Amino acid sequence: MSLATPSPSEQGAYRLEVNGRGHDVVDSWAGESLLYVLRNRLGYLGPKNACEQGECGSCSVLLDGRLVCACLVLAASAAGQEIVTVEGLADSEEELSDVQQAFIDHGAVQCGFCTPGLIVAVHDLLGRLPDPTELEVREAISGNLCRCTGYGRIFEAVEAVRRSRLEASS
Ligand code: FES
Repeated sequence: MSLATPSPSEQGAYRLEVNGRGHDVVDSWAGESLLYVLRNRLGYLGPKNACEQGECGSCSVLLDGRLVCACLVLAASAAGQEIVTVEGLADSEEELSDVQQAFIDHGAVQCGFCTPGLIVAVHDLLGRLPDPTELEVREAISGNLCRCTGYGRIFEAVEAVRRSRLEASS
């Protein structure tokens, strides 16, 4: 298989909205993934580059509120949609979200490679289902592979956030 040089019509410019901030992407090739553009063009290093096949969840981001693997989304197709990476989950850049803090408090991080994707997935889950069952938690993060921590502490962190959000809302 040979790699063809993209024609001028395949190159382009578009604007991405990431964590509430607009970014112009210029001279891009139409085949660039959202993961590539986020990391290599825009400097958002939270989404991790691992399998590039949508299998490991390390590059999870929210796209108009839907959890997606950024490696499987064409960046140009995300123009006009709201992209949220792990860097944009807290109220400000100086703070951690409650899920991020719970991962720290419960030791749910070892090498940390899977952590940004897992945290985005947990935000998505608890945003949709504030009081998930254990099975729903397991299903929700089944697409996020952790190679070294094991899932026990991750489940503890999710449970802590579930409980504290429910207490805060009652
Ligand atoms: Fe290392 Fe999950 S903490 S892969």
